[in-house]
Amino acid sequence: MIFGGFIEDELVGCYILDTNNQGSAEIKNIAVEAKHQNQGIGKSLLTHAIQTTKSLYKQQLIIATADTSTMQLGLYQKTGFKIIEVQKDYFPKHYKNPIFENGMQCVDRIVLRMEL
Ligand SMILES: CC(C)(COP(=O)(O)OP(=O)(O)OC[C@H]1O[C@@H](n2cnc3c(N)ncnc32)[C@H](O)[C@@H]1OP(=O)(O)O)[C@@H](O)C(=O)NCCC(=O)NCCS
Repeated sequence: MIFGGFIEDELVGCYILDTNNQGSAEIKNIAVEAKHQNQGIGKSLLTHAIQTTKSLYKQQLIIATADTSTMQLGLYQKTGFKIIEVQKDYFPKHYKNPIFENGMQCVDRIVLRMEL
């Protein structure tokens, strides 16, 4: 399921909710247009994902990010997600070219889960 966040007619953010697993849903991608970041839209999209997952009678919501995504890790934990798994060396194993964020190389994938 793909959801968009709008200000009037303008698409300012979106997320993908994978609902294929029986007991849980996973946010696969979440993004807010750069000029609209830090205005609470990401938090609103996360809140929408939580409500949508609850309305589907699922018990868990999952989201994953890189070890270098310090702001995202903060946002997700402030929203109520807890770290449940660190997938060591995920990025070098799955991507041909190294990825850098915040001046650091993405190495591990951090999986977070919220119990609903
Ligand atoms: C991650 C993303 C979706 C968040 O959306 P957003 O609309 O900017 O987020 P919000 O404005 O709702 O919330 C940002 C929160 O992070 C905090 N924050 C912002 N920059 C920060 C920083 N550099 N360090 C720590 N916290 C920071 C804000 O204070 C706010 O928390 P608060 O409400 O408690 O004050 C957005 O930044 C984005 O699209 N990033 C690029 C794509 C991406 O990384 N997607 C996630 C992949 S896992």
